[in-house]
Amino acid sequence: MNAQFITLDGIDGAGKSTNLAVMQAWFDERGLPVVFTREPGGTAMGEALRELLLNPQTQVSLRAETLLMFAARQQHLEDVILPALEKGIHVVSDRFTDATFAYQGGGRGVPLQDIEVLENWVQESLRPDLTVLLDVPLEVSMARINKSREKDRFEQEQADFFVRVREVYLNRAAAAPNRYAVIDSNREREQVKQDIETALSRHFGL
Ligand code: TMP
Repeated sequence: MNAQFITLDGIDGAGKSTNLAVMQAWFDERGLPVVFTREPGGTAMGEALRELLLNPQTQVSLRAETLLMFAARQQHLEDVILPALEKGIHVVSDRFTDATFAYQGGGRGVPLQDIEVLENWVQESLRPDLTVLLDVPLEVSMARINKSREKDRFEQEQADFFVRVREVYLNRAAAAPNRYAVIDSNREREQVKQDIETALSRHFGL
């Protein structure tokens, strides 16, 4: 099996941090070579763009925001993701292009076809082999966001924004069920953990 490109995504407050640790442990226990990385970010330039994009003071147009997400992604692919995959190292990215469809497309209203054009240009044929999509109802997402002391530029959005974000994630997963493992993250940690482990084991045929 070639090195696999796996992404973890979902609305804010879906529990990504806890479950990234579950994924890391799954790879470690099996001694599989893997790089964990994130978007926006993963490179020096990407992290600088992340600061800018998450800063509530930043004023940016819809198209500029979308292009900056893809600018960070291009550098990330070039410097981190593609070199790792070429060396036979699996890659797990904390968010990827599904987030652009969901947040810039669903949340902000950028036409999804425009995002597809950028996806094809920046990624060529590369798509995640597996996307673990963590899903929680809107109320749970909002309650978790409201607990954070300092909200970033996206977390400051209102409930209707996150309704649209979640809808795009779920629509994309429904349209390509083989690529997505949709995990109901609104349950006991142990149950969510087991589902993630099962999704990984199934994907790797282990
Ligand atoms: P996170 O690291 O807490 O997930 O924060 C990243 C934020 O950036 C999150 O609110 C989603 C947002 N985002 C986009 O809007 N578009 C994108 O393409 C990516 C990768 C993230």
